[in-house]
Amino acid sequence: MAEKFDVKSIGQESSYSPDPSYKQNAWVRDYNWTYREFLSNPDEFWGNVARELEWYKPWDKVRDWNYPYAKWFVNGKLNITYNCLDRHALGKNRNKIALIWRGEGEAGRFYTYNQLYKAVMRFANGLKKIGVKRGDCVCIYMPLVPEQIIAMLACARIGAIHNVVFAGFGAGALNFRMNDAEAKFVITADVGMRRGKALPLKIIVDEAITNAPSVERVIVLRRQEPPIELHQEIEVDFNEIMEGVEVDCKPEVMDAEDLLFYLYTSGSTGAPKGVVHTCGGYMVGVYHTMKCVFDLKEDDIYWCTADPGWITGHSYIVYGPLCAGATVFITERTPDFPDPGAWWRLIEEQCITIFYTAPTAIRMFMKLGEEWPNKYDLSSLRILGSVGEPLNPEAFEWHYQVIGKTRCPIVDTWWQTEAGMHMITTLVGEPMKPGFAGKAIPGVVADVVDKNGRPVQTGQGGFLVIKEPWPSMFRTVLKNDERYRKYWFTIPNTYTAGDLAVKDTDGYIMVLGRADDVIIVAGHNIGTAEVESALVSHRAVAEAAAIGKPDPLKGNILKAFVILRVGHTPSDKLRSELIHHVRMTLGPIAMPSEIEFVDSLPKTRSGKIMRRVLKAKELGIDPGDISTLED
Ligand code: WTA
Repeated sequence: MAEKFDVKSIGQESSYSPDPSYKQNAWVRDYNWTYREFLSNPDEFWGNVARELEWYKPWDKVRDWNYPYAKWFVNGKLNITYNCLDRHALGKNRNKIALIWRGEGEAGRFYTYNQLYKAVMRFANGLKKIGVKRGDCVCIYMPLVPEQIIAMLACARIGAIHNVVFAGFGAGALNFRMNDAEAKFVITADVGMRRGKALPLKIIVDEAITNAPSVERVIVLRRQEPPIELHQEIEVDFNEIMEGVEVDCKPEVMDAEDLLFYLYTSGSTGAPKGVVHTCGGYMVGVYHTMKCVFDLKEDDIYWCTADPGWITGHSYIVYGPLCAGATVFITERTPDFPDPGAWWRLIEEQCITIFYTAPTAIRMFMKLGEEWPNKYDLSSLRILGSVGEPLNPEAFEWHYQVIGKTRCPIVDTWWQTEAGMHMITTLVGEPMKPGFAGKAIPGVVADVVDKNGRPVQTGQGGFLVIKEPWPSMFRTVLKNDERYRKYWFTIPNTYTAGDLAVKDTDGYIMVLGRADDVIIVAGHNIGTAEVESALVSHRAVAEAAAIGKPDPLKGNILKAFVILRVGHTPSDKLRSELIHHVRMTLGPIAMPSEIEFVDSLPKTRSGKIMRRVLKAKELGIDPGDISTLED
């Protein structure tokens, strides 16, 4: 990584400081001070966080690091649902709203902490009744309804391991995940609702289980009238399993290192990886970050637009917010139905204070224009968040100006399925730099290094790494510990995240994109994210994706696919203008040789552009595993 990135040209033009009141009232009032406290004694730091939660038995040791394997809160006993539910439901927060759900049309429901606690216990007893035992794997394939969350918590309550599969995946992907995790039970629904249409889910499960020998029972939430028929041999109704059960369900006493869940992540190469998370460290990590990164306060109404089927949903819809006693808003509605004002209307109606979404959504909103958010009162918003891919400076600016009206700090949170919790961001109250996620949060040690693990100089690209274990780190890859070890042995004693990044003089980290998306053009390393960021900074461009095309002279040339904003039309003149624009922004080495105007880009269901698919199409080769592709 010898290439020098001109950090200025990729977005350091501006830095914003939020109103001082944010800092005065923040959980972490002084980042530098807190970070030094953490460094001076990491075990004490994490031990103090863990002591804010309830344990049946305290740990003997905070951390046991046997490279590359970590144990956290050794011999501590807990149940995460006690901290998510009982702690609030039996205390002063019993009548606080835990969950607000809005479906399409008039559909809506809410649960107080006490109601959610009882709903989870009843379903947990229902699961026990049909034979679910501690240590069993339960696959959850559900739409975004409260029952999806209740199902996850009920599993955790009784010590079953959940394996949530996002309900947008097809039968093949679901089948792989069920088989790999040896799921004994599947929880699903007849349908999910999307843009006014019922999407059949149960049919996909029917297909997926034909070749899944481990599956014994399928539990079906029947939403439609008349209810679909169930096959008595293996299918049972979600509500019927709760008939006649007791309300009370004592939580299983779990060891800190007992398994909490598997979650599959789409590796950029090879089969999806079953990331393994455990109870104690995960709980402490998501609780800590929920509180400090979102600066959660008693009366916040918090909305994370992810689905619980992704790690963002696990950590920041379910476990983090509930451990911290938040009021969580969820919706099955898409942002553009019945019109592009759908989400802004929800923010106004629900008085959302913290809004956590993805850059791809923000760029879609940019494309649709300011008129839509401007129709609604967004003044309840206090903090904005972003996750999933680099928040390019233009999207940052738009989010900051148009949605936050320059009032709201933006926390651009970098982390991964493997990480379990936020790792790098700019804490609320600290100066924000568009394009830069920020610094490692107190509790995490991150850096940008070369392939030998040596820190790179300011402004120089390198590999984003984590240098110390952290509580919510994954413990292995299911049935493939080799893949786990690879993360830790690519650079010795270091966790290599697989992302490229660059650091500025203040230590702020800009994530450039996946290391595997690097394109070498005439010997120069160019991150696709850089080129895309440059293209998107042109007023005509809504979204862009760049790939490398083999070239006999230069090794690779750059080809960019571009979606234009409304009001702009493709033309040769615009094409030249865009190439010139990148040349002016990044320099001649990063200039795309080809630009193709397109209406859409292939994306994973979590919104990441699949450059690999674009590249395969371009070269006329097999795209490989496309089970995570949206359409
Ligand atoms: C990318 C999602 C830049 C990154 C939580 C990482 C980001 C991968 C950011 C993990 C961010 C996530 N800025 N890039 N704020 N957040 N990424 O496992 O490439 O679905 O390695 O976890 O998303 O994706 P995953």
